[in-house]
Amino acid sequence: MAQPFPNHPQLRGNYAPINFETSIQDLVIEGDLPEGLSGSLYRNGPNPKYAPVGPYHWFGGDGMVHAFHFNEGRIDYVNRWVETPKHRDEIAVGHSVARMRKTDPETGNVLPDRQNGLANTHIIWHGEQLLALDEGSHPFQVEPHSLASIGYCSQQPPLAGAMTAHPKIDPKTGELHGFGYMTEYAGSSLMTYHVLDKEGRVIRSDQFEAPYPAMVHDFVITQDYVLFPLFPLTFDMARAASIGSPFAFDAAAGTKIGVLKRGAPVTDMRWIEGPLCFVFHYQNAWNEGELITLDTIEFAVAPNFPLADGSLPSYADAQGKLVRWHLNVKSGEIRRETVLEVAAEFPRIDERYTASRYRHGYIAAASTRQRGDGGLFHEITQIDMQSGETQTWDAGVGNGVSEPVFVPKSKTSAEGIGWLLATIYKHESHTSDLVVLEAASVASGPVATARLDHRIPFGFHGSWRQN
Ligand SMILES: [Fe+2]
Repeated sequence: MAQPFPNHPQLRGNYAPINFETSIQDLVIEGDLPEGLSGSLYRNGPNPKYAPVGPYHWFGGDGMVHAFHFNEGRIDYVNRWVETPKHRDEIAVGHSVARMRKTDPETGNVLPDRQNGLANTHIIWHGEQLLALDEGSHPFQVEPHSLASIGYCSQQPPLAGAMTAHPKIDPKTGELHGFGYMTEYAGSSLMTYHVLDKEGRVIRSDQFEAPYPAMVHDFVITQDYVLFPLFPLTFDMARAASIGSPFAFDAAAGTKIGVLKRGAPVTDMRWIEGPLCFVFHYQNAWNEGELITLDTIEFAVAPNFPLADGSLPSYADAQGKLVRWHLNVKSGEIRRETVLEVAAEFPRIDERYTASRYRHGYIAAASTRQRGDGGLFHEITQIDMQSGETQTWDAGVGNGVSEPVFVPKSKTSAEGIGWLLATIYKHESHTSDLVVLEAASVASGPVATARLDHRIPFGFHGSWRQN
């Protein structure tokens, strides 16, 4: 018999999971869906099936994928759990199951299993495959229409480590660049750098030593460089007993940025000192010679994690803002300028400009954030990175916006000409909408809103697949 969920801040309100899978034909839509908007929006996020055993963290819930299929003026909706081995085991026994990891009998180190993850962080289309990603595992393939689970990808040659949930697809080549961390065991400082060709074949998957073991959520590529920024959200198993988490923000370890020329062997990696802060996500990066422009969502410390002494970040330190870094990879000099003094996360761009000079960013923001709102973002903001001008649509205080995903109007339309797709949680009705905004006219609000009779729990990331 399934047990009630505990009263936990990351299992309440719209963080709470939903307990069903469904298919809905032809959603009710208010407004007019743009002509030519034909494809699928996928979103992924944590949605535990059963009440968790032991401490729970939002990052640790089993993945559920939501799809909105746009076709000739109608939208069909599907949601499915990703049927990882853990999820299948749980359905079989009727309760939450902890993932058992093997340990090295000599060292006691916890060994990785790249095909026993949560698949809960991102979902992308690459190499004619729909891939659910978390950062500790290999990609998990899902059928693009029904979202039926296919299973973990078994690339040949195999990936030499986990695949980040934030790989970067080079729009010029279709290549996918990714990385993994803590490759040998939990707490190892060995990382990996992967490049897959546009068909999904592994071109390289190379291991390199990082300065310390850390949680590394995202990275960037430019036309000429790959950057692996490490912020000191370090791992120490001994902390689990002392402060309740092996991960903590340890200022003493400092920030280190791995710099590699694209195509160079990992033995060429140089590590330069970075400013003490924390970044989960990058909006984009590009280089002109040795000068790299890197747009970050910068926090003072790692939000959602303790400091090394076990204390929790202050409210102010747990707010991220959009900060542009100017980084000279030759001198190691870094200059930073704040672009937007508003609490924000989930930056996206017109991905035809990944790794290139670009102009427009799109972000979930909260200009009227308050303590106790659970980290809610209530606005979608477009930022002109050249002029600094912004446009914002406010979904209403108490309502929550997802990351906005940009869809170009056509293959040849100029940067920023297209639509933004996002899901909105409405607290009064406890339901979610899908909104379509014109990316160049965000302040005008949605041009079309598709209604669901249920809510989509707060999730992480998603993407668009063009038909
Ligand atoms: Fe992320």
